Amino acid sequence: AVSDQFCEAGVGYGEPACGVSEGSSKILIKGGTVVNAHHQEVADVYVEDGKIVAVKPNIKVGDDVTVLDATGKYVMPGGIDPHTHLAMDFMGSQTIDDFFSGQAAALAGGTTMHIDFVIPVKGSLIAGIEAYEKKAMQSCMDYGFHMAITKWDDDVSREMEVMVNEKGINSFKFFMAYKGALMINDELLLQGFKKCKSLGALSMVHAENGDAVFEGQNSMIELGITGPEGHALSRPAVLEGEATARAIRLAGFVNTPLYVVHVMSIDAMEEIAKARQSGQRVIGEPVVSGLVLDDSKLWDPDFITAAKYVMSPPIRAAGHDKALQAALSTGILQLVGTDHCPFNSTQKSLGIDDFRKIPNGVNGIEERMHLVWDTMVESGKISVSDYVRITSTEGARIFNIYPRKGAILVGSDADIIILNPNSSFEISARSHHSRLDTNVFEGKRGKGKVEVTIAGGRIVWINGELKVAPGSGKYVKMPPFSYLFGGMDKADAAYLSSLRAPVKRQISTA
Ligand code: URP
Ligand code: ZN
Ligand code: ZN
Ligand code: ZN
Repeated sequence: AVSDQFCEAGVGYGEPACGVSEGSSKILIKGGTVVNAHHQEVADVYVEDGKIVAVKPNIKVGDDVTVLDATGKYVMPGGIDPHTHLAMDFMGSQTIDDFFSGQAAALAGGTTMHIDFVIPVKGSLIAGIEAYEKKAMQSCMDYGFHMAITKWDDDVSREMEVMVNEKGINSFKFFMAYKGALMINDELLLQGFKKCKSLGALSMVHAENGDAVFEGQNSMIELGITGPEGHALSRPAVLEGEATARAIRLAGFVNTPLYVVHVMSIDAMEEIAKARQSGQRVIGEPVVSGLVLDDSKLWDPDFITAAKYVMSPPIRAAGHDKALQAALSTGILQLVGTDHCPFNSTQKSLGIDDFRKIPNGVNGIEERMHLVWDTMVESGKISVSDYVRITSTEGARIFNIYPRKGAILVGSDADIIILNPNSSFEISARSHHSRLDTNVFEGKRGKGKVEVTIAGGRIVWINGELKVAPGSGKYVKMPPFSYLFGGMDKADAAYLSSLRAPVKRQISTA
């Protein structure tokens, strides 16, 4: 339901909410519990011209200011979704949410920034980013880009420098799966890791053994298993664990930080835990689907019902979800993404006779903040501060835009949500704001509701209504050498000097 998104703010929330113009630049949020990753306190938050200009108790303002009463509610940094695919051409289709509809959905769910993956055009990063710059022109919230690396040569290597030094990209994703399409081999992975390291850019991996997946798929077809369950059966968790371990070891060999996207299994999570325990700089990103769903619906006799759960790596059997939640709560995994990659029923039907042709991907950009709140905070697994950390602050730190993003601090961008812990949410394709005709979280309900979203200092979501305009979102450039690179030069220097220690030799005369 995107067509009804240009509407007036309704009445009922604070004063004078209704009739506030799009351009209203002064907002006071009164009496809420302001939560940052490091601290929480009851305070007012005053916003002017897109920035937070004061955070303290009892701020007095004139009557040209929109006042929102947040008593008894949490005032938190807007969510940052580090993993999305809007308007992505993939598996013979294009994801059904573009930069406007996907972002509108995000805002309705309390996410105020996302980082999308630019896919190169025939291997060209320049052509890829030009295409994505066009797609993103209709943005209604702030966004950044990662870049996928799908082949290797001198041009790609040079273009990576341009992406980092001129285009504001500080992370590159390598696909170890999707054989014959996006997949790269270990040689390329090593070249890519080395280049990333030299640029201070973060290496990211989709960790599944693509050659083994290909074998697994052929085996399933030979066995006559052509339905969506074949997707899960053909690429078991052991293949995710293997690729995660391999990527970690190769990143360790190069001595560069590694970010593992969409950690879906205990197998992958345990490799990350082991690496972190040994001191290696590895970040693990679970996604909402992996945290709250299991694979049972892949066996549903209705094709569309089953096919909507097809994503890679697959949603795993019950048990993996709980283990990923536990890892998130203890810091083994650091932040939550969505991998929002929505294909509608018609698009999913491309694979009606063959699961290998079902476009891979599920939704989540609109649901992440609510589901993580309910699953992690409401259940008592983490504190509200930790919620802010895993949904916003840690992403801002990793991608080097903190504290502009990811914090309620003086000088930060005014990307803010007001969450009512006593209200509740219910998810349905009938009421969501994505263009998708299905929802993998259909029927899920829980406590905690994002009642207000402020993006770039404007109230964009209030009283169940969106007030968004295409073109109002800004591209956020992300500089290289995030905190993950701090001190790496010392480790490299120590390694080099250990190599250069002279070896005294003589010819044995025995
Ligand atoms: O199934 C998925 N995950 N689709 C999106 C592409 C990717 O691998 O992230
Ligand atoms: Zn309306
Ligand atoms: Zn992936
Ligand atoms: Zn993805």
